[in-house]
Amino acid sequence: MLQGKRIAVGVGGGIAAYKAGDFVRELRRQGAVVRVAMTKAAQAFISPLTLQSLSGESVMVELFDPAQEERFGHLHLARWADAFVVLPATADLLARIATGQGNDAVTTSLLAFRGPVLLAPAMNTAMWDHPAVQRNVATLRATPRTHLVGPGVGPLADGDVGAGRLSELPELISATRALFTGGTLQGKRVLITAGPTREALDPVRFLSNPSTGKMGLAVAEAAHARGAQVTVVLGPVGEVGSLPYEVVRVTTADELLAAVLPRVGEADFFVASAAVSDWKPAQVSSRKTKKGEGPESLQLVRTPDVLLTASAQVHAAARRPVLVGFAAETHDVLAYARGKLEKKRLDFIVANDVSADGAGFAGDTNVVTVLGADGSERQVRGTKREVANRLWDVLEAVAP
Ligand code: CTP
Repeated sequence: MLQGKRIAVGVGGGIAAYKAGDFVRELRRQGAVVRVAMTKAAQAFISPLTLQSLSGESVMVELFDPAQEERFGHLHLARWADAFVVLPATADLLARIATGQGNDAVTTSLLAFRGPVLLAPAMNTAMWDHPAVQRNVATLRATPRTHLVGPGVGPLADGDVGAGRLSELPELISATRALFTGGTLQGKRVLITAGPTREALDPVRFLSNPSTGKMGLAVAEAAHARGAQVTVVLGPVGEVGSLPYEVVRVTTADELLAAVLPRVGEADFFVASAAVSDWKPAQVSSRKTKKGEGPESLQLVRTPDVLLTASAQVHAAARRPVLVGFAAETHDVLAYARGKLEKKRLDFIVANDVSADGAGFAGDTNVVTVLGADGSERQVRGTKREVANRLWDVLEAVAP
């Protein structure tokens, strides 16, 4: 799909600039012709010579370089390129692009460029969340021919998840391809549940589990990079900052169900990755329970099964989304997963052996088997993002 495409890559000055090398290499591996422009700040993170070797073309670093202007001035780059990708798009670079400045090789080339532009923001979470940055992002989203990919969500030092990482290579490549095709999930609606739920015992105590929402957010990011319209119903995982798709925050299983039911009928894909509490306390005290008051044991009642309820609702309708569940298991993984696939009438279930090495709740990697209602079985191992992309490779093929 990228064969023969001419892609200008504008590199900004952020810690993720070193990843521009991998991106350029992968574009070329897929047949694209690549030319690079860099900001001054970018050169502090990766050398023009490195990007020159990887792209096989001279790199534009100065706005007015008599030696380069002839063949490779900003107008030449702009006229030459079929698409323009900026990574990492730092806060400063986003501000300059949003306000139409042309004060270095990257921004000036962009101003003169008439084709599709992809910006891949990357910065510290606090910077990304700053109202000034978000204003610039809103301006850029509303700018014709301009698309954003990411930023991805990653772990923060305090254990929260936050937005700010440069999207991973598969997302960057998918989003670049989408500039030409409109995206393999263009026009599709994707509804995802992610994270844990929390069931209160009293104002200061609750029942929950250690889910971080990372797997669900990786599935969301991968779908968004392929052009889908994504909504994530997200349980309590701390601040995630502004994400490039709709996020509905909920706390309890009942709230999760209330957010899903009105939306699932419209969706083309429903991916239930939330680790929903199966039980909640029968009684919730409005006041903090003191030690002396007990109780010694808890009385619990079942919470709604969100996926089962949503599945029943859409099976009764004329048209239904592709239904995907997750099964976290420690033993008899595939047998239990297939049982859930059948019971909840799903199209696919992602069986996750949480006792295996490199798998589980909080880590960045996962080992899963994607089971299909047609009896298919595919093993996928890698980062949660890689797993998310392989999952979409499978799901895309059965899009309604
Ligand atoms: N799920 C849900 N609502 C619940 C429980 C589970 O939507 N109350 C969804 C999960 O998001 C997941 C799938 O159902 O996609 C399987 O969840 P899991 O908890 O593993 O299965 P259960 O059916 O609860 O079975 P068990 O706890 O006995 O393993």
